[in-house]
Amino acid sequence: MDSLGLGLWLGKCGLIMICLLIGLLMPSAASSYSIGIGISDTTGPVAEVVFMGYAKMDQKGSGLHLRTFARSFIIDDGQQRFVFVSVDSAMIGHDVKAAVLRNLESHYNNLYTETNVMISGTHTHSSPGGFMMDVLFDISTYGFVKESFTALVNGITKSIDKAHNAIVPGRIFIIRGEVLDANINRSPLAYLNNPREEREKYKYNVDKDLMQLQFIALNGQPLGVINWFAVHPTSMNNTNHLVSSDNVGYASVLFEKKMNKNNMIGKGSFVAAFASSNLGDVSPNTRGPKCEFTGNPCTLQYTCDGEKERCFSSGPGRDMFESTSIIAHKLFDEAWNLWISGTATEVKGPVRVVHRFVEMPKQKANFYNETTKKMEEVQGCFPAMGYSFAAGTTDGPGSFAFEQGTTTSNPFWNAVRNFLAKPLDEDVRCHGAKPILLATGRMVLPYQWQPKIVSTHFALVGNVAIAGVPGEFTTMSGRRLRNTVKNAIANADKSIEDVQVIVAGLCNTYSDYIATPEEYQIQRYEGASTIFGPHTLTIYLKQYTELAIHAALKIAVESGPTPLDLSKEKLISLVPPVLFDSPKWGTEFGECVKQPSRFARPGDVVVARFISGHPRNNFMTGSTYLTIEKLEEDETWTSVATDADWETKFIWERTSIILGSSQVIIKWEIPETVLPGEYRIRHNGYYRYILGGVYPYQGVTGTFHVKTPNLNY
Ligand SMILES: *[C@@H]1O[C@H](CO)[C@@H](O)[C@H](O)[C@H]1NC(C)=O
Ligand SMILES: *[C@@H]1O[C@H](CO)[C@@H](O)[C@H](O)[C@H]1NC(C)=O
Repeated sequence: MDSLGLGLWLGKCGLIMICLLIGLLMPSAASSYSIGIGISDTTGPVAEVVFMGYAKMDQKGSGLHLRTFARSFIIDDGQQRFVFVSVDSAMIGHDVKAAVLRNLESHYNNLYTETNVMISGTHTHSSPGGFMMDVLFDISTYGFVKESFTALVNGITKSIDKAHNAIVPGRIFIIRGEVLDANINRSPLAYLNNPREEREKYKYNVDKDLMQLQFIALNGQPLGVINWFAVHPTSMNNTNHLVSSDNVGYASVLFEKKMNKNNMIGKGSFVAAFASSNLGDVSPNTRGPKCEFTGNPCTLQYTCDGEKERCFSSGPGRDMFESTSIIAHKLFDEAWNLWISGTATEVKGPVRVVHRFVEMPKQKANFYNETTKKMEEVQGCFPAMGYSFAAGTTDGPGSFAFEQGTTTSNPFWNAVRNFLAKPLDEDVRCHGAKPILLATGRMVLPYQWQPKIVSTHFALVGNVAIAGVPGEFTTMSGRRLRNTVKNAIANADKSIEDVQVIVAGLCNTYSDYIATPEEYQIQRYEGASTIFGPHTLTIYLKQYTELAIHAALKIAVESGPTPLDLSKEKLISLVPPVLFDSPKWGTEFGECVKQPSRFARPGDVVVARFISGHPRNNFMTGSTYLTIEKLEEDETWTSVATDADWETKFIWERTSIILGSSQVIIKWEIPETVLPGEYRIRHNGYYRYILGGVYPYQGVTGTFHVKTPNLNY
């Protein structure tokens, strides 16, 4: 019997006992897995909440460009289950994962656990923040925002639910590709401080590899795909106010639209994730750093001579939307070519997952110092942020007037710093080259500023190793981790051939950056944000080696210390609730106050304006604030686009704070593929009544005619 035939037969096998028996008798049956894949909407408050990522307090949302989603993949070999979730969010915090696990526990008892669920943020910088609980991560968002947290947690839970309910027998394949011109190193001077012999092993100063896992049901139906490519989703810059999943999110949408032909985004059965990897020092803004007004190159310290002239990177497009689209298409094109190439290798072998919480300041590890040619014992430090952290990066210049690479102190910040918590002498010594701006590890008021205990997570599926890391590894940090893990597995279990190691970024806990000890000396943003000191990476290399060996040898690891449960704290929340909505006198909710023009063509942007409620009254989860509708021959209207489509934009405007009045502007950029005919735009929303309660309303424009070029004479 060939493996496909056997798998089909196995799939029909209902009785677990029989399956187990056959599994024991025929070990080759392990090439088939149980696979379940699900997608769910995580879009939170799209208006009046500060975005997470650039730490810019005036970057509040005022609408929606691309909805955010959680994409879940369950892989089970009959003995062990592994769930990988990629979420369009800036990161994942311990409390987010804990809440997801509590939700799952109420449905599935202990089927889904800390150990077998790995949640990875794509790191988009354009989704509403406040879902983290640690003080430092909520400073720029005016504290904790329960709405963001709940939308994220519910969306992730639901995507796992859907994956659970979609489990079928299937096969997994792996393939590697390469994407050029989609990423650059944003801290090349720090990278250059890595040993020359090491750098010479690599062609580029960022990774260009795209790793793809393909999931196919035994009956041949394509189920989904996960792609890993190292790039910051910062094509949308810190002047953007529309919620967006950015370049990687749009790449997912492109892939899913291609596979799920007649479904609206987020509704099809095929799911395509573009997940984060070692993107720490990797920018999508391929034109590189330039001075804002003159366009001249920046100084070596990433400053410009002109007064108030900032240094930042942009490109490759004319504006941030075009840049997002170009990067997304490059990722999608390569992923698609790999998908249709039919040359991927089948993944075979057992699933093994290990997880351990690690208290970083307590860790010690051995480090071979190239300068002294000696093995040294090094240790983790209490969390602290360096001065260059405040300067931001060339993807998003900081709000503070610090220069990157600053290694001398600044009196203003010293004062603030000491007020918050003075670093101890041992902290100063431990952090070495980093001048401490914020001794976050010593700050206890009002509650934890940054985690000391992080999640370390490792999964082995056949010869594919996935290292889920609690932060942003730089390019070289990721390369060292992959090499170290590969060697560890090869030594531990020689039967696993051609080990492929994937670094899954921003998993489970967020602990900022992980630069190499050499990059750390340069104190660029990434080094300044390597919070456990110069040997953060050295410690992780040791930890992940242990995890990899345990997984390969099938030995359980100790779970480690339990992180603080911040949800028990009295969290500071300064974002005011929506009090009430009222339409201005003489108008109604949903009334269209600006009609689109009567005729339009592909490439035109159709615009409509409605009297609205506040979008925070209802996030329209799994639904939409807007629908582009087309009149069919049978006189019915069908939807051709929602607020999750690239071609639409949903913009919210306050028209009177006192009256609680607002309007929304809906834009539709007509795609070249449009069918000619009659169209209209629908808006759905909720308003908050002044005496309490939230009620739905809707509105629709008049029809407009779309002509295509061949009807044009
Ligand atoms: C952001 O992009 C816009 C173009 O879309 C540009 O005008 C602006 O200068 C950019 N700002 C930053 C800080 O990158
Ligand atoms: C290696 O040792 C030298 C001398 O003690 C020290 O200055 C340097 O920071 C060490 N390198 C690293 C990467 O820790």
